[in-house]
Amino acid sequence: MSTPPKGKLALPELAAMKQRGDKIVMVTAYDAPGARFAEDAGVEIILVGDTAAMVVLGYEGTTVPVTMDEMLFLTRTVSRAARHPIVVGDMPFGSFQVSDEKALENAIRFVKEAGADAIKLEGAGPMVSRVKTIVEAGIGVMGHVGLTPQSATQLGGFKTQGKTARAAGELIEGAQALEEAGAFAVVLEAVPAPVAAEVTRRLTVPTIGIGAGPDTDGQVLVYHDLLGLSEGHLPRFVKRYASLSREIRDALEHYAEEVRDGTFPGDEHTYAMPEEELELFRSSISPSATSPNDHAKEPTMSASKSLSPAPESEPPVRKTSSP
Ligand code: KIV
Repeated sequence: MSTPPKGKLALPELAAMKQRGDKIVMVTAYDAPGARFAEDAGVEIILVGDTAAMVVLGYEGTTVPVTMDEMLFLTRTVSRAARHPIVVGDMPFGSFQVSDEKALENAIRFVKEAGADAIKLEGAGPMVSRVKTIVEAGIGVMGHVGLTPQSATQLGGFKTQGKTARAAGELIEGAQALEEAGAFAVVLEAVPAPVAAEVTRRLTVPTIGIGAGPDTDGQVLVYHDLLGLSEGHLPRFVKRYASLSREIRDALEHYAEEVRDGTFPGDEHTYAMPEEELELFRSSISPSATSPNDHAKEPTMSASKSLSPAPESEPPVRKTSSP
């Protein structure tokens, strides 16, 4: 691929971080504000995850339905806002399973149409050749093994993977095959900590854990989970660092209450006009414009607000909306 834009973290820096023992921070984001918050917090990688299906698009307990077009739209919003972190677009179910060619076509769309710096795809085995094909075309690929939610049905649900010696061995082989195919990092989801530690020791490229214990090279969490925006049951591996859904609910209830009881908007949120213009305005309008309804006697605003002179400093008017 071409030179990364100025200020962008270079992919090889992630392997250098592993070598130095510096932890890599990855978080998901699905829009420009989320991307800006993540960038300001200094994260290295933003994943526009297909978890968007559940946390943004309203599908319950599955990532399968999210489409390429939806993922491209979300990735575009993140890429526009994230200057330094590496933006990874997550290939949705159906966009890479069919063939290497189809996978490459869709990976190219992530980079060309959505501004992604790299892509992620789930699975090893037959998916290894997809990774190789995409990497050979010059696009960075992040692998993903362990619990791969797109195949949750086949795996028997959202369950820890690699819990038997045999399954752990297969998981290690899968991760190694992804590295050999050229993946620049591998996500390990919901695997026992000792297995994740072993994969991490064996790979040169970084491992990014989610529910994989402390010995991976980095960690990733879903934005809505860590901020307490997701409600209901969450996996054991999620730590909530805030309770934003509570705050949002409280704020919306407060707003609704104030609209209903007339406390909002107050004078400080209201535009006035010069007294003489108001007089002129009143005398220029025909009486038929006034309502017979007592409390709407004034032409456009409630009496107390329309009569007050313009404050010395008006509240700012947002550029994109009319005052
Ligand atoms: O889609 C996603 O958010 C992910 C992370 C959980 C790794 O794949």
